[in-house]
Amino acid sequence: MSSVTEKVDCDIKDIGLADKGKLRIEWANNSMPVLNLIKERFEKEKPLRGITLGTCLHVTTETANLAITLKAGGANVYLCASNPLSTQDDVAASLVRDHQIPVFAICGEDNETYYKHLNSVLDAKPQITMDDGADLVSVIHSKRTDLLEDIIGGTEETTTGVIRLRAMEQDKVLKFPIVAVNDADTKHFFDNRYGTGQSTLDGIIRATNLLLAGTTVVVVGYGWCGRGVAQKAEGMGANVIVTEVDPLKGLEAVMDGFRVMPMAEAAKIGRIFVTLTGNIHVIRKEHFEVMKDGAVVANSGHFNVELDIDGLESIARSKRQVRKFVDEYTLADGRKINILGEGRLINLAAAEGHPASVMDMSFANQALAAEYMVRESKNL
Ligand code: ADE
Repeated sequence: MSSVTEKVDCDIKDIGLADKGKLRIEWANNSMPVLNLIKERFEKEKPLRGITLGTCLHVTTETANLAITLKAGGANVYLCASNPLSTQDDVAASLVRDHQIPVFAICGEDNETYYKHLNSVLDAKPQITMDDGADLVSVIHSKRTDLLEDIIGGTEETTTGVIRLRAMEQDKVLKFPIVAVNDADTKHFFDNRYGTGQSTLDGIIRATNLLLAGTTVVVVGYGWCGRGVAQKAEGMGANVIVTEVDPLKGLEAVMDGFRVMPMAEAAKIGRIFVTLTGNIHVIRKEHFEVMKDGAVVANSGHFNVELDIDGLESIARSKRQVRKFVDEYTLADGRKINILGEGRLINLAAAEGHPASVMDMSFANQALAAEYMVRESKNL
């Protein structure tokens, strides 16, 4: 163990990766002017002085710049991953070595380690939680209720997290206020649409090196993320089909120029499928059963439950990894179906997530939301 990892509480892959992470964090920072302005002000005003902030976010170069900004504002920042496959291990190493920020995240960690890391952040007794997917809030409400007393509030980054939290609120079980950062116009109009649009295609291309031009791409869900992926795929010459259960959004997709049909139809036609719904099992056994030989199926929604991979396994006669991030399943009749990144969000599993300039807007909102929570802590 190095002296740094002895001094800073952490569980990361390899502190030796810190040099690489440092350079990459700097590179992202060059495209984050808004967060930099906030950081400069935070350094002077210290609006988060003494506040313990528990953050559960994708551990990327962009998140690193957010964590550095929050620390500049005086917060004690603790960070764990919001997905087992999205951690950039070099970034985790640099945050620990160069910024003394406790990080608990290792790319590829199993489920048990994932929750152990979440609990390591909660052990710091955060007064503010910052979630991407509502896992910290969920664990606090189920297993760590002792922490509720000291919590001022939390922030939530993503659509899926906001859906979970709204359900808790409706059931009257949500015990502290949350700022739904996702709902800011300067978040979902840009990050969800242009960020997911570009980074999802980036993930699919890095994983497969397939040509999009002339390829039939089925986009499942026409929320802000689906809209972005459909638009960017069309821009690269794909024939885009949209499936959508909300009639209004379906109509919008038609008027945006896309073919819209149920998954039962689209499954027979598509070559590349990508889910972005926040819902469960939107591609199921009956859909895999009718897909073309060579179909490629990816998820870019927050959780890996959008694809019923167990259903696919039940009809497959074999499975093998044919490239990094590509599992090929062979069905009884010999057709092959490829699942990317184990169904985990492909833009962060196989690529690097959204580019920094769009995360700049999202994370500026996060930093300002944390400041607001502290300032208004008595009035929320
Ligand atoms: N979500 C999507 N892209 C991201 C990124 N680059 N960093 C953190 N969270 C993200």
